[in-house]
This record gives sequence, structure tokens and C-alpha cells, in this order.
Amino acid sequence: MLDGAEGYAVKKSMEILVALGDIYGAQDLVKVGSVQVSGVSYHNLGDAGLEFLNELAKDGKVKVLTTLNPAGMDLESWQQLGISPEFAEKQNLVIDAFQRMGILVSCTCTPYLIGNLPLYGEHLAWSESSAVTFANSVLGARTNREGGPSALAAAFVGKTPCYGLHLDENRLPDVRVKVECDLVKLSDWGALGYAIGKKAENKISYITGIKTAELDELKSFCASVVTYGAKPLFYMKGITPAAEQQPEPKETVTIGPADIKNAYDNINDQVSDIELVCVGCPHCSINEIEKVAVLLKGKKVADNTEFWVATSRTAKQLADRRGYTQTIEAAGGKFACDTCMAVAPLKGRFKSLATTSAKGCFYSRQNLMKTKMGSVEECVDAAVTGKWSN
Ligand code: F3S
Repeated sequence: MLDGAEGYAVKKSMEILVALGDIYGAQDLVKVGSVQVSGVSYHNLGDAGLEFLNELAKDGKVKVLTTLNPAGMDLESWQQLGISPEFAEKQNLVIDAFQRMGILVSCTCTPYLIGNLPLYGEHLAWSESSAVTFANSVLGARTNREGGPSALAAAFVGKTPCYGLHLDENRLPDVRVKVECDLVKLSDWGALGYAIGKKAENKISYITGIKTAELDELKSFCASVVTYGAKPLFYMKGITPAAEQQPEPKETVTIGPADIKNAYDNINDQVSDIELVCVGCPHCSINEIEKVAVLLKGKKVADNTEFWVATSRTAKQLADRRGYTQTIEAAGGKFACDTCMAVAPLKGRFKSLATTSAKGCFYSRQNLMKTKMGSVEECVDAAVTGKWSN
């Protein structure tokens, strides 16, 4: 492969994988069960990225199930999200290149909700940080946090260098985190992720004190904990599959109500008028869409506010069949399929954001927005009134 026997894309890919393996001291390559490629938004790729993809697409065909991270726009309804035709044209060229490589155009950071559900212990090459954390921690699969090119390289070769989180010795927990507070609403899980991320400081946490956790809560926590500082792997006693087999680390930190309050204080800005409300970071599950539909039924989104429900196209199709789409759109809400507030070209377009997501706040600040984080109820209220109420 390295000598070019399988063509240009595979040769380039092997060069990338060998270089990575050399840097990190990998002894071997390991087969991957699936790949998730980031770097899909033309907003991040630019023309140089598009050219790179087109070169690879000339003879590159993926060897394993490969899906995409969100793109810079809803691939079908981009006009209603205010995307320019020029951007849409370029974004479509990016998607076209991926399609020619044999990649499934399911642009989502929750591939595990739409059919790409890894097995326990399976090796992967996934890119998006919340998905990587979910795969490692909640599913017990094994993946490093790949960059776009290294994930793509793994897809063309079907293997990835065996280092980092592929190896048992690098998956041991470093710090015990005792959670001594109640988590009441979805955004509390984002706040917990912030607090642990700050205290764990690039360590692997062994979390105790959590009695129950729903899928949407874990999804939100995974996005936050890795955004704010921890490794993309944690153990949660009684919740995640491999926790019981791990030694409890000696170093201990405690998270209490004051840490959660501090997280909200740091994530929330001083702002009351809300121009964009976005739920679905990570992409909404069908249960989250249902909740939005129930809360929004019979109401109207305020004139100067946009309300986006970011999700995968597959979840939206389910929402269509169950009538949630119609309810949300009748109220003036918009679906943002295939994309999200972080990778769409939003810089300068909205001055303020309300969301359920701690990670969404982090990236929206980079898009120059003031941010508010709260429950789904608080977000729907902000969408209807155009104001943040507390
Ligand atoms: Fe997903 Fe975008 Fe959030 S990729 S985790 S919705 S920032």
C-alpha cells in the first residue's frame, strides 16, 4: 500500500498512518470496525481542503463503514437557514467528493443513534470529540480522537496505528471524581462535564456518585467533559460498561453544588435578548425532538429569534413520521439537519445564543455570540419570548 500498489489515495493514506504511528510509537496497525470523518464543513475546509478531497476521490474507496460529521449546512433546506448559494455550491462539492469515496452521507455527530453502533471492545477511527468520548466510555469501544485526514486515511486502509486509547495500558483511570450533587435538568450534565473537565485536566476520570443516567444525558456529558479539558474516555461507576473492572484511582476530587454553579456562571454571559436558540449539540435524539414538539405545540417563535433543532436527517425522518416536524415548523422552528451551530458559517450573524449545550456555548463564543445555557424548557421559553428569563 505504501509503495502505491493500491493507488494514490491508499498510498497517501498509508503515508499519513505510518507518520502517525512513528510519532506515537505504534508497533502495529489494528483493523477498525468503522470510521467517522470530521472536517466536512466547507467553512472549515476552504478551497485547499476541497482540493485535497477531490485528489483522494479520484481513486479512493473506503474499506469500512464510514460516516461524516456535520457539514456547514442542511444539505436539503440550506436556504431556510440563511446559507448563501455560493457557500452551498462549495459545500455540495465537498459532499460529492465524499460520496465518490463510498462514504455514507449521514452528517451527524451521533452516528451511534443512526445505525453506526460499535461493539464493546471494537477498534474505531472516529473524529468528533463527543462521539469519540461516547464510543470509548458509554459503548466501551476503542478510538483515539482522529483528525479529519487521519480518519479518512483509516477508512481507505481499513486500519489505524495501534497507540493511545487502543491499548489497555492507556485506558486506566487516573483520577476518582466523587459527584456529590443532584443533576436535575439536561444542561446540568453539561455543567458537570465542565466542572470535571476543568478538574480532571486531561486525565481519565473514574466517576462515582451518579445513580442513573439517560442516553441524552450521557450524550450531553460526553460533549462537555472533553470540550472543557478531560481525555475522551471516562468511567462512571454503575453506568458505563467497563467501570467495574477498573482500579479506583487514589487521587480524588469532589464535585459539589458550588462547582455546578461555577460552571453555569462561567458558561453564561450577561445577555437577555436571544437571537438564536439551538438545541441538539450533540445532535438531537428522537426523544429530544419529541420533547421540543410537546413544549412548542400551539406557540410561536418570537419575530426576532430563530429556533433551530439540530439533528441527523435520519432522526428528522422519524420526526416527520411521528408529526413532531409539523408541530415544530408550525410554531416557526427550523430543522438544521446535517449541520450544527458550530460548523455552520454563523460568525457575526447572531449576537446571542440560548442552548442546552455546554459545548455549544464554547464554540458559539468563538462565533462571537453571547451564550446562555439551560434546560429544554428554558430554551423553548427563550425562543417564544425572545428573552432569557433568569
Ligand atoms: Fe455535534 Fe456540532 Fe455539538 S458536531 S457535538 S452539534 S458542536
